[in-house]
Amino acid sequence: MNFGPTEEQQMVKDMVKRFVDEEIKPKAEELDRTHRHPQEICRKLGEMGLMGVAVPTEYDGAGMDNVTYVMALIEISRGCASCGVITSVNNSLYGYPVKTFGTEEQKKNFLAPVAGGHVEGCYALTESGAGSDAAALRCRAELKGDTYIVNGVKKFITSGNVAQYCVLAATEDPAKGYKGILNLIVDLKNTPGFSIGTIEEKMGILASGTAELVFEDAEVPAANLLGKPGEGFKQMMMGLDAGRIGIGAQACGIGKAVLEDSLAYAQEREQFGKPITSFQAIQWKLADMATEIDAAEMLLLKAAWLEDNGLDFEKEAAMAKMYASDVTMRAAVEGVQIFGGYGYCKDYPAERHMRDAKICQIYEGTNEVQRMVIARKLLKMR
Ligand code: CAA
Repeated sequence: MNFGPTEEQQMVKDMVKRFVDEEIKPKAEELDRTHRHPQEICRKLGEMGLMGVAVPTEYDGAGMDNVTYVMALIEISRGCASCGVITSVNNSLYGYPVKTFGTEEQKKNFLAPVAGGHVEGCYALTESGAGSDAAALRCRAELKGDTYIVNGVKKFITSGNVAQYCVLAATEDPAKGYKGILNLIVDLKNTPGFSIGTIEEKMGILASGTAELVFEDAEVPAANLLGKPGEGFKQMMMGLDAGRIGIGAQACGIGKAVLEDSLAYAQEREQFGKPITSFQAIQWKLADMATEIDAAEMLLLKAAWLEDNGLDFEKEAAMAKMYASDVTMRAAVEGVQIFGGYGYCKDYPAERHMRDAKICQIYEGTNEVQRMVIARKLLKMR
């Protein structure tokens, strides 16, 4: 067993670390304050191959593996959690289904521009009545000739306010349950009947837009169907397995930022005439954070390795996402505690990390859903 990265993985990790320290981390506070979409960062990440890390080079990706993807995404999220989720959605939730189920033409037209970092992609599954119960979605896609007529409202869509392309989950007939679900690629900038609804006001990841997508007799070419009708739910579940590794990596990156900032602050902050790191109460918090974040990273790398080797990674992705986000949330709360009164104010990033960490326990399947997925696999219920 080899715990070390390959030469190529180490090279990418070092390159991303440099970029994050020079160009992402210094902007994170401003991005959070202004809620600005980090367009220039996204374009540069695209140039570095990081918007399609595991996408083959013929579709403008970097042609690397998912282990490298996890390493890069942890680094990006260490610098800015919003940049982390935008990168994760482009690579996983949008990139994975188009790469895996798309035709040659679909990949050329709709994967390459996102993997190359020229435009954003998004994934529209959630609705007001279909969150954890994904199969309950009601957005309707009716085939008329060679066009799907789409009606419905999608909720909480990451990058929905800026994305050019979307993988949209809809049903051709709600009576068919999950077997009626299909996925369509939608060009959001050129689809009559589509509009952007409410942009959510959130607690954290404020530079990542979260939008409602409204489809009113929207016309989508039937040629944009991914795979066959009825395959949509399984495509979605497989895409979410891949996406959960991304969100786990985002959480782990936030956790690393918490540890880095807490270590630096605790060594310079003096009380009772000495640095607060001389107190065991602080040392133990730092020790717990470091241990749990390391363990989360190992779960993530294992899940990505399984994916790279064509092995089942559903349970491991759920474990990694759940564990990484739970320990990061714990670390973020302790981080604020280490900073004391300053941690509760915006002078330091501790409160931002706490706000950013929380969503990782919620999206791409709440951690309660992850426990369901893990238990079903353990009990061989699927
Ligand atoms: N891979 C392949 N097939 C799968 C699968 C997987 N991971 N999981 C389930 N399936 C198959 C099942 O085998 C079954 O097929 P058969 O009948 O042929 O055996 C079919 O799909 C239905 O499966 P279930 O009965 O298990 O489905 P369910 O309705 O009980 O739902 C669930 C299972 C795990 C709860 C699922 O609904 C789920 O993951 N919910 C959470 C949704 C979610 O993660 N939303 C995130 C939105 S995106 C987001 O958050 C992005 C963002 O903002 C950044």
